[in-house]
Amino acid sequence: MTATLPRPDDALVARLRADLAASGFTVAGVTALLGPMAAAALDRDQALPAQRATGATDDPRAALVRLFTLGDPVDAAEVAAALPTLGVAGGVELGLLAPEGDAVVALCDLRPHAADGADWWVASDLGELATGRPLTPDHVLGVGGASTTLASWTPRLPAARALDVGTGCGVQALHLGAHAERVTVTDLSERALAYARFNAALNALDWDVRSGSMLDPVAGERFDLVVSNPPFVITPRSGAVPLFEYRDGGAAGDAVVRDLVRTVGEHLEPGGVAQLLGNWEVPRGTTWTERVGEWLDGTGLDAWVVQREVQDPAEYAETWARDGGHHPDTADFNAMYTAWLDDFAARDVEAIGFGVVTLQRPATDREPFRDLADVPGPVEQPMGPSVLRGLRARTWLAEHDDDAVLDIAWRCADDVTEERHGVPGEPDPRVILLRQGGGLRRHLPLSTVTSALVSVCDGELTARAATAAIAGLLDLDDDAVRTEAVAFLRDAARDGLLVRGD
Ligand SMILES: C[S@@+](CC[C@H](N)C(=O)[O-])C[C@H]1O[C@@H](n2cnc3c(N)ncnc32)[C@H](O)[C@@H]1O
Repeated sequence: MTATLPRPDDALVARLRADLAASGFTVAGVTALLGPMAAAALDRDQALPAQRATGATDDPRAALVRLFTLGDPVDAAEVAAALPTLGVAGGVELGLLAPEGDAVVALCDLRPHAADGADWWVASDLGELATGRPLTPDHVLGVGGASTTLASWTPRLPAARALDVGTGCGVQALHLGAHAERVTVTDLSERALAYARFNAALNALDWDVRSGSMLDPVAGERFDLVVSNPPFVITPRSGAVPLFEYRDGGAAGDAVVRDLVRTVGEHLEPGGVAQLLGNWEVPRGTTWTERVGEWLDGTGLDAWVVQREVQDPAEYAETWARDGGHHPDTADFNAMYTAWLDDFAARDVEAIGFGVVTLQRPATDREPFRDLADVPGPVEQPMGPSVLRGLRARTWLAEHDDDAVLDIAWRCADDVTEERHGVPGEPDPRVILLRQGGGLRRHLPLSTVTSALVSVCDGELTARAATAAIAGLLDLDDDAVRTEAVAFLRDAARDGLLVRGD
């Protein structure tokens, strides 16, 4: 167990902040120092190129990277030069540094993080790259792949109150600070909360930090936005797999995510949104949409769930056995692998889905909408602006009947193009696709009717007038054309391929 935790001493933290800012210890600054190759290698947990790039320079950022990212001992004089106002003694007092002979070692990871024009610093436990050892069960993660996925997908809507459930060292809360007036964070881990308090202080932010399981610390309270990268990893309870606090919520199977989906609505204001990540099990003979659909039944929430990845039990076991720092073909790895396969077999689980869950409490008493889709490929980065537009489009569609849809003068979004695929020599295309450049990068096949409709979606002509003209031109039944057009318009509009021209 890592004993030391950083202390949020305001005066010392202010000195640290000043030193980090003065040295240019930002994402851009560190990337410029390392160069693209070493920076990319670090992202793959390979330290060697970064060690070479930081070894022979007196740039203060190099000392900070060697100390806080690579976990190397650094000469005390170099550390003192990199942290001139805090000093080595101040770093020791903050719980960040420890002397080791003439050198100094870091007791935690500390690195810059940036998004949407903002720069922050994030302290967390030193990872496997720095320590060379498997992680301990109480390990507090820094910014990981799941953190950036959730941050990317979160709709950045203005919020009076925002909540981050399972905040860890506070990554999501940093992002929330840009668009929420009050940020509340919860976690079960006291170590994580210590880091969250420290990171709030280091970034001069004020968070309401609460201890407890999932939504317990906010009983009876409501928020405009709830985000959670929950401990969603499905973990056998047999004892063979360490119960890492950062990924295991303390329940069997996918119950942690199920319970969060089922109960988060009680904490949403009308119109409030929850943005979550999750894993779900797919038992043999069922589908993921049935599984997640059951979770949603009775919640009264709008739901837009995008499944991004599917693994079979073996792939899942390999991913998460490696994640804790264990290597294939070792006894520990194989014991864990077996435990995962046994666990999934006991519930007849055939596949495990990973995805992004967007929930909204409807602001009126209309029927909630539900949209569960598979999108395995690359999507726009960040996705948040598209999620916000998609929520608004789905809400409008849920609040308007087909007549209202027909009365709109729809317009093709600026990132939409049409693709025609034909057989060489044939005059007419075999396939016409409407392709979205951003967002979920959807492509919709067009029929004769919908292709004609899209060609007049210029924001001037209503869909009603367009469908009447198309029916006349193609000598088709008016009702049939309208029915096909409305289904297509709803599908294209919800993901932003068509937008309202009004
Ligand atoms: C995957 S980490 C997410 C950390 C951070 N929010 C991020 O996005 O990187 C999950 C967090 O949930 C916390 N956690 C685990 N079990 C929990 C529980 N039952 N209730 C609340 N938090 C829990 C862990 O301590 C950890 O900080």
